[in-house]
Amino acid sequence: MQNLQLRVVPVEEGKDAGVSSSRPSQTKALPIRLLQLFALFLVFCITFSVISIYTIRHFGINGMMTTVAASFQPCPEEPKGLDRWIKPPSSVKHTMNDEELLWRASFTPRIKKYPFERVPKIAFMFLTKGPLPLAPLWERFLKGHEGLYSVYVHSLPSFQPHFNPSSVFYGRHIPSQVAEWGRMSMCDAERRLLANALLDISNERFILLSESCIPLYNFSVIYHYLMKSKYSYVGAFDDPGPYGRGRYNDNMAPEVKISKWRKGSQWFEVNRKLAITIVEDTKFYPKFKEFCRPACYVDEHYFPTMLTIEAGNSLANRSITWVDWSRGGPHPATFGRADITGEFLKRIFETQRCTYNDRNSTICFLFGRKFAPSAMEPLLHLAPKFLGF
Ligand SMILES: *[C@@H]1O[C@H](CO)[C@@H](O)[C@H](O)[C@H]1NC(C)=O
Ligand SMILES: *[C@@H]1O[C@H](CO)[C@@H](O)[C@H](O)[C@H]1NC(C)=O
Ligand SMILES: *[C@@H]1O[C@H](CO)[C@@H](O)[C@H](O)[C@H]1NC(C)=O
Repeated sequence: MQNLQLRVVPVEEGKDAGVSSSRPSQTKALPIRLLQLFALFLVFCITFSVISIYTIRHFGINGMMTTVAASFQPCPEEPKGLDRWIKPPSSVKHTMNDEELLWRASFTPRIKKYPFERVPKIAFMFLTKGPLPLAPLWERFLKGHEGLYSVYVHSLPSFQPHFNPSSVFYGRHIPSQVAEWGRMSMCDAERRLLANALLDISNERFILLSESCIPLYNFSVIYHYLMKSKYSYVGAFDDPGPYGRGRYNDNMAPEVKISKWRKGSQWFEVNRKLAITIVEDTKFYPKFKEFCRPACYVDEHYFPTMLTIEAGNSLANRSITWVDWSRGGPHPATFGRADITGEFLKRIFETQRCTYNDRNSTICFLFGRKFAPSAMEPLLHLAPKFLGF
């Protein structure tokens, strides 16, 4: 074939040359040479066909096909079965904007029974400024439980994470934007975390954490506590005072009535159904965005109020993240190296009284805050004895 083309090209050049009629004798000889070439080509084609037919008959068409397929392997194929719909994205990176992401995350199956063995996972969603100083504690807590959890991190977009490929935080930073305390941008970040986590259909419970949070029990205890829970752990209470109902704005009616106005800790835990309720909300969002601005701190009111209206019966109305307000002031206590003793950890557990699935329970808080980076070392040391991991 190549030979023929090489020869044909001079013919065409010859055509041009013919205009200037510099080589008349050559143009005359060409047709014969072309015919000869054509005959040669024909012979080549017939030989090839015969060989092909012989090979196919002899080795079978399958053998031929696999050889061909094998040599084209580098192009990865999209799964054709159900996998295509249930496999989580291979990377948490994407180029969707918030509007696109929330829309995509709101997809939900209408048939409740999964036609495959679905192992429910906990999505640990870290809302941080940047570094995760307590990461080694989380690494130890999660170790050995692969397949039962996923990790998502939202940080300042300028933050460059440096985690080892073996870390549970490696490659888990979602596309993020600046989030300010008490502003709607904080709720946007939380919805962004939920939406990214919803893209994995195996995620069933979604827990929002900060860089100062620690687990208070081992993974098995926390996993079973959440998976068997009838309720989602969103702090929601009706505070009649100036920092509760006092922040309500009449313009929110009729979507939000004052009787449904709730306050609660930002650090929530929700099941998949409520996570979808949050990402799909277009009814309450504009009201809160416009009418709950400082001194109305929207991250303390939007989810508790909206979920009370939409799914009040699925809420435990309490948070599962322990925090110490006993020192007074506008911020809860932060614990550092000197605070972390066996006695201190025991005290956290002793005082717990609550209901779990409508029964009295002494396990109420699964996570604790706020722990300073300096608390890490004593925590790592005391965790096996006092926290069970
Ligand atoms: C987790 O903690 C519970 C209670 O403290 C204990 O019974 C259980 O053995 C622990 N599980 C593992 C895997 O360490
Ligand atoms: C939480 O509060 C809502 C009303 O705000 C109520 O309907 C629900 O039953 C409460 N949950 C529990 C577990 O008591
Ligand atoms: C549960 O605790 C409350 C007080 O917190 C008590 O009044 C009640 O009797 C307890 N119920 C059971 C079944 O132990």
